[in-house]
Amino acid sequence: MNANTIPLAVINPDAPPGSLEAKQPSIDNGTECYDKAGYFSRDYMQREWERMWTRSWLIAGVEADLLHVGDFFLFEIREESIIVTRTEEGVRAFYNVCSHRGTKLVWEERGNKKVFVCPFHSWSFNNNGTLRRITDEETFQPEVIAHRPGLTPVACDTHAGIVFINMDENPPPLRESLGLPQGYLEAYQIDRMKVVRHVRSEWGSNWKVGVEAFYESYHLHVVHPETRGVMGDLNVQYDLYPQGASRMIVPLGQPSPRIHDQKTVSEGLKMMLRDAGVDPSGFQGTAADVRRAIQLGKRERADRLGLDYGRFQDGQLSDSWATGIFPNVQIGCHPEAVFLMRFLPHETDPERFYYDTMTLIFPAKDPDYRPPAWMGLPEDIDVSGRQRRVTENYSIEQDAGLGQVLSQDSALLPVVQKGMRSRGFKGQLWGEQEQRLRHFHVELERRMAQE
Ligand code: FES
Ligand SMILES: [Fe+2]
Repeated sequence: MNANTIPLAVINPDAPPGSLEAKQPSIDNGTECYDKAGYFSRDYMQREWERMWTRSWLIAGVEADLLHVGDFFLFEIREESIIVTRTEEGVRAFYNVCSHRGTKLVWEERGNKKVFVCPFHSWSFNNNGTLRRITDEETFQPEVIAHRPGLTPVACDTHAGIVFINMDENPPPLRESLGLPQGYLEAYQIDRMKVVRHVRSEWGSNWKVGVEAFYESYHLHVVHPETRGVMGDLNVQYDLYPQGASRMIVPLGQPSPRIHDQKTVSEGLKMMLRDAGVDPSGFQGTAADVRRAIQLGKRERADRLGLDYGRFQDGQLSDSWATGIFPNVQIGCHPEAVFLMRFLPHETDPERFYYDTMTLIFPAKDPDYRPPAWMGLPEDIDVSGRQRRVTENYSIEQDAGLGQVLSQDSALLPVVQKGMRSRGFKGQLWGEQEQRLRHFHVELERRMAQE
C-alpha cells in the first residue's frame, strides 16, 4: 500500500492549499528499519555529538529571558556551557570558559551582568566577549597575551522570540535550517510571552526515545487512557516539513474515535468548556459539538481578555499544534501559551536524557485570567510572569511533579529503552501515525553522514 492511500485524518479539508493549517504535501521517506545501536552505543553517542549536536542550530532559550542589556542565561549541553546574553549590539553567545586557564566563568543559571569576572584569577570580560582586564598584566610576557584573548563566540540568532545557537564555526543561516514556513511560529508572538515555569528532569532513556514518544499520538489510548474523553487521538493530522521539522495537530475538546460514546459531555469536556468561557450547565450540544463551542467561546471573549485571536484559524483556538524542530525540540503551540520542550542528551550516558520544559504565557489584559486548566500549571504559579522563577531541577529518582500524563511517559520510557537492547528486538517498525519519527531519522541519518 502506498503511503498516500493510508487513511489518516485531515483537520480542515477546506483550508486553502499552502496555508499553515493545510495538510502538507506528503514526503516519501521510505520504509527502512534503522540500526538500533544509535540508542545505546557510546560510539554512536560520540559521533552524534561531533556530527549532529555541535553542528546544528539548537534552541538555547527565549528572548523573554533577555529583555535588558546585560541579561544572560546559561545553555548547558553535555560538556559545554554557553553564555547567552543581550549586549548593546543584540543577543550574543560565548563559550562559558575563561581564556586564561579554562575555568568555568559564570556559575549562576541566569542574571544580569555587564562584566564577567573569573573566579580563579579575576580576569574580567565585557559581556560582548572582549577582554576587559588581565590581573597583574605586567607579569605576563607580552606575546602570551598580545592577541587580547576574549571569550570564544558561538553562532547565535533569534527567530520568533526564540534564541538559537550553533557550535559550528560556519553554520548555514538559521532561517533555512528551521524548515517551518514563514509566519508559522511568528503568529504566536512568543517574544511577548513570559516564562512562568521551567522544569528540567532526568529520564531513563536515550534522548531519541523521548523525542519519539512525543512525536506521535498512537500511544495515547493505552498509556494515557484518561485523555480518551477529550482528545481526538485518531483524528490527528501529521505534517512533514523540510529539514526534519514536522507537526501534528491534535484536536482537543472531542472524544477519541476509539470510544463508543460520542455524545456524553464528560467532566473533562466540561472543564474545557469552562476554560473557554462557556457555562457547561447551559450547553445544549453533545460531545461532538464541544470543540466548536470552545472556538466560538474563545472568540467571543477575546477582546475583553486582550487575547488577540485575529491571526489564528479556528482550529488553533481549540487544538494542540505540536511542532517539532530538528533535532530535539517540540513546541506545543496555543494562542494563550506555548510549551517549549527540549530533549537534551546526558553528559555521559546514552541511556539517559534531560527533559527540559518551559511554559510561556501570553499576557492577558484581565488580571484574573488563568490559562486553561488542562495545561497543568500548579495553582501557586504566578501567571503574570512578573517574577522569573528559577528552573526546577529533578534527578532521575525524584518526582518532578509534571502531572499524570508526563509521569506515565517517564515511567514507560526506560522500559522501552531496556527492551530495545534485547537480542530479540530487531529495530523499530513505524506506521504512518509515526511518520514524524521516520522523518526525524531520515534527517538524523543525513546529518550523521556528513563529513
Ligand atoms: S582561569 Fe580565569 S583568570 Fe585564571
Ligand atoms: Fe505520552
